[in-house]
Order: sequence, then C-alpha cells, then structure tokens
Amino acid sequence: MPGALMFVHMLPLQSSTSIGIDTIALAVPRAYIDLRDLAEARGVPAGKYLQGLGVEQMAVAAPDEDPVALAVNAARRALRLSGTRPTDIGLCITGTETAVDHSKPVAAFVHGLLGLSRACRTFETKHACFGGTAGLLNALDWIASGSARGRAALVVCTDIARYPIGSAGEPTQGAGAVAMIVREQPRLVALEVGAGGSFASDVDDFWRPLDRKDALVDGRFSVECYLAALAAAYVEWLRLGGAQGGLPARTCYHVPYGKMARKAHRQRKQLDGVSEEAADASFAVEVEPSLMLPARVGNVYTGSLYLALASLLHLEAMVLEGERVGLFSYGSGCSAEFFAGRVVAGAGAWAAELGLDEPLRGRRRLSIVEYEALRRGDADVDRRPAPAGEVGGRRPAEGLVGFLGVDAGERRVYGAA
Ligand code: HMG
Repeated sequence: MPGALMFVHMLPLQSSTSIGIDTIALAVPRAYIDLRDLAEARGVPAGKYLQGLGVEQMAVAAPDEDPVALAVNAARRALRLSGTRPTDIGLCITGTETAVDHSKPVAAFVHGLLGLSRACRTFETKHACFGGTAGLLNALDWIASGSARGRAALVVCTDIARYPIGSAGEPTQGAGAVAMIVREQPRLVALEVGAGGSFASDVDDFWRPLDRKDALVDGRFSVECYLAALAAAYVEWLRLGGAQGGLPARTCYHVPYGKMARKAHRQRKQLDGVSEEAADASFAVEVEPSLMLPARVGNVYTGSLYLALASLLHLEAMVLEGERVGLFSYGSGCSAEFFAGRVVAGAGAWAAELGLDEPLRGRRRLSIVEYEALRRGDADVDRRPAPAGEVGGRRPAEGLVGFLGVDAGERRVYGAA
C-alpha cells in the first residue's frame, strides 16, 4: 500500500538501521610536483619533506581545474560507479574553503552540472577543513531523521590548498575533491550516527582573508590546536561510550601532511594509556595504509580525512570487513569531531570495483619552473573571459568538466568534453 510505505519512511529511522558511506570517488588535478624537486629548488634537504613532513608528491591544479570542476568530476564518477541516478539524490552538500563566489555556492554549480532533481536540498558548508565533515554529519542526520524518504545524499569535499611560494606551508599544499554517496545499507562503511565527540574553540591558527588566494597560517600553533582539539574530541567520544565494544582497529586522521597523523596517533594512544613507543609501534598497522593517497596528493583540506579513508579502503577493505574504523576531522578556527564506523561485509570487493586510485594514474610531473609559472599565471584566472562559441584550446580534458572563464556578466562558465 503506497500510503503506508510513505508513512514508514517519514518516521525517524531506528538506531539499528545502517547508514553511511556507500561510494567514494576522487578527482585530482592532472599534474603534480615531486617533493624532492621542491626541496632541491628551495635548498632544503629532501628528508625534511619526505620524512619530516611525510609528503612525497603534491597535486597542482591547472586553471580549468577549479574547485567546481574538481567537485563535479568526483561526483560524476561517484554517481556512475554507484549506479545512482541524479533523481535518486535528495540532498547535495559541498564542503569547501575554496569558494568561487561569496554568494553562489559550489553546490549550486554541482547541482546544475550533474542535472540533479529540483526537489534536492542543495547548499555549501564552511568551517575550514571541517566543512566536509559538517556536510557528512548533516547527511547522516537527514537520513536518520526520515527526511531522506529513501533518497541518497551526495556530499562533495573540494579544495585547492595554497600557501605563499617559499613559505613553510608550501610543501603542505595539494588539490582535489572527494565525493561520497551517503545512504541506508551502505556498501563501504556504516557510520555510528549521533555518537561523535565534538569540540570547538575560536582560535587563529589558520585563516584566509577574503581578498587572498593563499592561506595565512601560524604553523606551529596550528599543530598545537589540532592536537588539543583531537584530545578534547576523543575524550568526549569516550565519554559518550565510543570505546564500548572495543577500540577501532584502524584510525584515519585529518592529514595536512603525513607526519601530522603520526603526531595525532601518539596523542590519541596516550589518552588510551599507551606509551609513545607502543603508539609508534602500532602506527604502521593502524594508520599507515590511510596515508598512501594523501602522500601522493597533499592536503586537500575538506576532503583530507576522506582521502585517508579512501586510501585505507583501497588497500585494506577486504581484511577490515566487520572491523571498526575511527575517524578524526579537524578544521582550523577550529572545529573537530571524533567518530567511528564499521567496514561492512562485501566492502572489499566493492572498493576494488571502485578503483579508488584510478584518477591518480597518468598524471604529469611538473618541473618546479612550470609549477611556479602556473602559480604566477593564475592570479587573474577567475576573471579571464570565457571564449565565445568554440572553446578551442580551453577544451577540458576528455571525459571531464572544466572551468572555461567568466562571461560579460562575470558568470562562471564550465564546459564538458
Ligand atoms: P617548518 O617550520 O618548516 O617545519 O613547518 P619544522 O622545522 O617544524 O620541521 C618539520 C618536521 O621535519 C620536524 O619534525 C623536523 O624535525 C623534521 P617534527 O618535530 O614535527 O616531528 N625535519 C627533518 N626530518 C628529516 N630530515 C631532515 C629534517 N629537517 C627537519 N633533514 C609546518 C612545518 C607544518 C608548521 C608548516 O609546513 C606549515 O605551516 N604548514 C601549514 C599548516 C599545517 O599544515 N598545519 C597542520 C595542523 S592545522 C590543520 O591541519 C588544518 C589545515 O588543514 C587547514 C584547515 O583546517 O583548513 C592546515
């Protein structure tokens, strides 16, 4: 009876209902730099970037690879791979701290370029790197409350991480988008809804004034803020009963650079009463698999935690089926959450089908001269006129959406090849 079915969907879901991440898909720029090349150009020992920070490569966005294009390309891949039709999506949230407009959200472009339903709730969330998690938690609550009425949510995290050339932050840049389909009976990770430990505090560790493309940061202080937020969020998670049924087998942290995850893991383990030596000894098993993709892409801000999760699932989903994974999200400014989920049965085969590292294949290694030229040239990229009619040399790469420029009314124009 259709009426009865509708009524059932309008009731809040029981806590036993499984809700979480069904599909993950990435989009990364077509080019990257190798941190050995950057170290040489900056006169720094390569060991400082490779071991000291734990970064190997850093994605570099071309002018057509703006946060909208990256978001749409990740989302298109997620819809296609998961077999989700645009009309199945009832909520579309983009988390970003690289907005392209003070008013029009990246989510509106994503909604339009994907052809999502007009009855789809669509908006953008911002809180530095926490913006993507804010979107994901919102999507979980939306489904748990019954508002989804059987539909799925699309959460896309998209950013270009930039610091001034030659600054201490330069080796911790990156760019990319992570799209997640969130729904009932997910095929990757069932998340524990309403059980996360939250923390927030008004701090000036990292900021980007409205007229700047490059972030400003009090680097060492930002590390302290991250660790303090982790401790508080984790203790709150424990207080809410997070450790009942055992601690997570793996933990993914927000990864501005790999070494930060190592510091985070030590901090967390200390709160479990584990010594620094024992914490370091557990790092290779509990955390390292989540750092493979971040080490090749760099900091992707809002998507960073989910790039780490993608990395973990890509390498280990099969052996982790049935196991709990801890997740720590940090956004400067600051807001943080520790939460957890369980890798579901069948996730191994599904993750293999998703080919999570595929978008990183065939990337071009830029010289530092090319990278610096790109950076110098993109100061006015948001104002360059879009070509009228034939897009010629600005045609996006095959199968992708790209930013072409702005029209006479300063509207952003995108093209698909
Ligand atoms: P720095 O000051 O140049 O680096 O900047 P350092 O001198 O602190 O060295 C870094 C590490 O390399 C140290 O290890 C050195 O010992 C080691 P540690 O003491 O940390 O364990 N080292 C070497 N190792 C091997 N061989 C060598 C060698 N030399 C030194 N030869 C800093 C580092 C992270 C501060 C800088 O890159 C920065 O400012 N980055 C941007 C800010 C950032 O990423 N903060 C992280 C926490 S805040 C966060 O995650 C939020 C964020 O994502 C933004 C958002 O929320 O939107 C950033």
